[in-house]
Amino acid sequence: MKIDVLTCFPDMITPVVNESMVKRAQEKGLVEIRLHDLRDFSGDRHRKTDDYPFGGGDGMVMTPQPLYDGIRTLLKQAPEGVRSRVIFPTPDGVVFDQRMAETLAGEEHLIFIGGHYKGIDQRIRDLLITDEISIGDYVLTAGELSSMVIMDAVIRLIPGVLGEINSALSDSFSEPLLDCPWYTRPEVFEGMAVPEVLLSGHHANIEAWRKEERIRKTKERRPDMWNAYQDKGDVENG
Ligand code: ADE
Repeated sequence: MKIDVLTCFPDMITPVVNESMVKRAQEKGLVEIRLHDLRDFSGDRHRKTDDYPFGGGDGMVMTPQPLYDGIRTLLKQAPEGVRSRVIFPTPDGVVFDQRMAETLAGEEHLIFIGGHYKGIDQRIRDLLITDEISIGDYVLTAGELSSMVIMDAVIRLIPGVLGEINSALSDSFSEPLLDCPWYTRPEVFEGMAVPEVLLSGHHANIEAWRKEERIRKTKERRPDMWNAYQDKGDVENG
């Protein structure tokens, strides 16, 4: 997969993509990430990329020209026949979830736009953006942060990125229940012992305990998910 990020702040993203899982995914050749400074596409002699909103109001709007030229340049660089998705993270987008991450993980080329201030000129959204995605009902100052969240969730699902594919499959949200608690050594820490069943070596009992814990946590924290899980069970069981 190729990922291009068009941003006024490439330095915000560099350290994140050069660490840990995303770094390894690049080293394995499973993903290629390129960062592009939006100011390089500005026709303005001060490399400006924003301006005051028509009609008045506080804050600035990102101007269409640098985004138009930048996105079109990146689209032209995509290999023949590849459908590129141009993603604009924004609090008024569709709310991101694991299903969306799975869909995006199957794509060959993603372009992320780092939005700032009041956002970007609507004409760019109408002309070139294919996906407007929110990472939740709160407002960040930098679209780079939401781009990194979406990128991380997507890249880890590309086959070969995680050593243990099972660990991605049993994540909270890959299945319709939240994850269970996990323990490692030592057996007792600060006077707190690991649940005995996990030391029993009895696989069926361990699986049953994990399932109970997942159900308990889901009921407690996410009644919406619990209701959906029960409805699905009713359908499957006739
Ligand atoms: N940019 C600012 N806030 C955001 C959010 N909640 N989701 C996606 N992009 C954003």
